[in-house]
Amino acid sequence: MQQGIRIMKITSAVYVKGITGSDPILHDGKFHVVFMGRSNVGKSTLINSLTRMPSLSRTSSTPGKTMHMDFFFINKQFYFLDFPGYGYARRTPMEREKLAKMILWYLRYSEVKKRVVILIIDTKVGVTAFDVDILRTLREEKIEHIIVANKIDNVPQNMKEKQLAMIRAAYGDSPVLTYSSKTHIGRKELLEKISAYTNSVLPS
Ligand code: GTP
Ligand code: MG
Repeated sequence: MQQGIRIMKITSAVYVKGITGSDPILHDGKFHVVFMGRSNVGKSTLINSLTRMPSLSRTSSTPGKTMHMDFFFINKQFYFLDFPGYGYARRTPMEREKLAKMILWYLRYSEVKKRVVILIIDTKVGVTAFDVDILRTLREEKIEHIIVANKIDNVPQNMKEKQLAMIRAAYGDSPVLTYSSKTHIGRKELLEKISAYTNSVLPS
């Protein structure tokens, strides 16, 4: 860890609401930390790991659990947004299109100014076409982002470096962190990165 950077402590996390499009909450001026990624990559579990609240956001071994853009108010200062996953093959084409449109609308047209996107990749699966689309949009819209190679506990030791090298190659100059919600590996580093954005450096 870098000297002098203090990691925020999450002291409160409260579910506020789930939205599917335009809503006043988008424009209340609070910072958004947005968790995005393919269905089942572990977005909701990661939020629960960061907040140390295992039941905060609903998780499931069946993909497609999160259906709205769910807002959680953190430390009474900023939001964590848990997004529905994209690319879940067993949704109907109409459902998939609706979700993809919602995500793109949020990134391109919602006019939210203060935000960082945490783009989550399953380390074992690697980068998919959907991830590449999202990354392109993030770059086009000049949206700050951090890549998380998740479920690192699930990758055999002899595959780890190869998978991470592939992910790093796909993301070029974007920072890539490793994470596991099972072991909480990477928790400190991710909180440190998020703290740098939210400026909510609280006593630890
Ligand atoms: P959707 O809401 O459907 O898009 O899924 P999600 O990305 O929110 O995934 P969720 O958090 O519901 O987790 C999906 C599955 O992955 C669950 O069975 C979790 O227990 C499992 N999981 C999540 N994080 C990890 C991890 O770090 N390691 C391992 N081994 N499993 C994990
Ligand atoms: Mg979810």
